[in-house]
Amino acid sequence: MQKFVFLTKNIPMQEMQLLKRQGYKIFVGGNVFKKGKGAHGLLCLLTDVIDEKVMDVIGPQLKVISNMAAGLDNIDLVAAKKRRIIVTNTPGVLTQAVAEHTVALILGIARRLAEADRFVRAGKFKGWDPELFLGTELRGKVLGLVGHGRIGCRVAAILQQGFQMKALYYDVIRDLQKEEQCGLSYRNLEDLLKEADFVSLHVPLVNSTRHLIGQKELRMMKPCSFLINTSRGQVVDEQSLVHALKEKRVQGAALDVFEQEPRLTPGLAKLENVLLTPHIGSATYETREKMAELAAKNIIEALQNL
Ligand code: DGY
Repeated sequence: MQKFVFLTKNIPMQEMQLLKRQGYKIFVGGNVFKKGKGAHGLLCLLTDVIDEKVMDVIGPQLKVISNMAAGLDNIDLVAAKKRRIIVTNTPGVLTQAVAEHTVALILGIARRLAEADRFVRAGKFKGWDPELFLGTELRGKVLGLVGHGRIGCRVAAILQQGFQMKALYYDVIRDLQKEEQCGLSYRNLEDLLKEADFVSLHVPLVNSTRHLIGQKELRMMKPCSFLINTSRGQVVDEQSLVHALKEKRVQGAALDVFEQEPRLTPGLAKLENVLLTPHIGSATYETREKMAELAAKNIIEALQNL
């Protein structure tokens, strides 16, 4: 029996060849409801909502859903389990890229890079000024990681080694071994928010992390502090964040992900003290290639014994 793999979008040629060499019938793009029917494997992206309806339309032969992302919040995992569908993701291969982007956002918001760029482009630069665009130095400051997975630990390592930052972390599970390995100190969320100069979010989106950072938490943060989000937009109550930024209750925010992605919460884009990037944490040539390769290999492995 020829196996059928449906891809919601194209992946790089080399990784596509990996799938083709298996002799699969492959269909790329288009409406999954119309074109995905009968697929044994589905390769999808974090922007594809894969719920019960999608699984049922594809049919009971669906064996594997391979998400080309670390996060799995776009997939109904309970529904997949009920149908005995294997769900895979691409963790590990994007750690360095997302960590580097997080550090870029931290530097960018601390040194007001986007604001300064807009200023120069607008022809407002009239010469050196001792008080022009003063920013915040990282050295000796406190990094507060919310979530201490691979990416959080990598961010901590870069900022500890390069900028002598002190790193705290909060997570639902305290991990003494990791604390020692990564040189992190544990705090409960409240204490971390009160102490950190840079609060960086690295949690998956699950029920307990939805709006983990809301009005109450933003009030706990120092007025000189910054919020960085490269995890999932819905971890932050963005309306409360806009208020907090307007009232300068926090100094700034750098966001790569948005609560109603790709739409922006009203007011956000008007603020000067924010740095916004379009969910490009893992967007390096190296990493996207590795993500596609792992996603393809996950399909192959799951379909091997079919
Ligand atoms: C992921 O893989 O979950 C990331 O958000 C992609 O950048």
